[in-house]
Amino acid sequence: MHVNGKVALVTGGAQGIGRAFVQALLGKGAKVALLDRNPEAGQQSKAALDEQFEAQRTVFIQCDVTDTEQLKGAFKKVIEHFGRLDIVVNNAGVNNEKDWESTIQINLTSVIRGTYLGLEYMRKGNGGDGGVIINISSLAEYIEATGIAQNTKFNSCN
Ligand SMILES: NC(=O)c1ccc[n+]([C@@H]2O[C@H](COP(=O)([O-])OP(=O)(O)OC[C@H]3O[C@@H](n4cnc5c(N)ncnc54)[C@H](O)[C@@H]3O)[C@@H](O)[C@H]2O)c1
Repeated sequence: MHVNGKVALVTGGAQGIGRAFVQALLGKGAKVALLDRNPEAGQQSKAALDEQFEAQRTVFIQCDVTDTEQLKGAFKKVIEHFGRLDIVVNNAGVNNEKDWESTIQINLTSVIRGTYLGLEYMRKGNGGDGGVIINISSLAEYIEATGIAQNTKFNSCN
């Protein structure tokens, strides 16, 4: 896909890997909506990016991806603001085993919801022009799977 002129939505775009995605997409000529639950970080990122790229090419939308209505509303705002949507990066994520329910909401449920919303707006059969959905995961998934397999084997020997 040629990124120049396309419109991207990046969740958790205010800092870290999401912010790097935003920067890279802007560098290749896209317009980008940064979604993040942290308004201070979102506004600071937008201000810093405005020094490097034309201000109208980015928009910050405060959104907690675990809130279904906020996420739906944010997708709608992106379409209203930029007129189209071509790239969705479901990046928002946390690493917090103690609050595992919230972690599953953010790292899994919201990614699935973001994928369906991307399909709703971009799928050719739905009147869209097609697009790209990128879901950010972690290599830790494979490390955990190995650990569980080893533990299972160990337990079955006892
Ligand atoms: N950094 C790593 O080494 C690493 C390794 C493996 C996977 N990942 C994955 O990469 C992604 C980004 O990680 P990172 O290291 O850049 O994290 P980070 O903590 O630096 O940034 C995450 C961003 O997501 C936002 N966010 C968190 N919960 C949110 C929510 N409910 N709604 C909206 N925004 C929310 C935060 O405010 C923050 O701006 C995550 O999905 C993470 O699981 C990171």
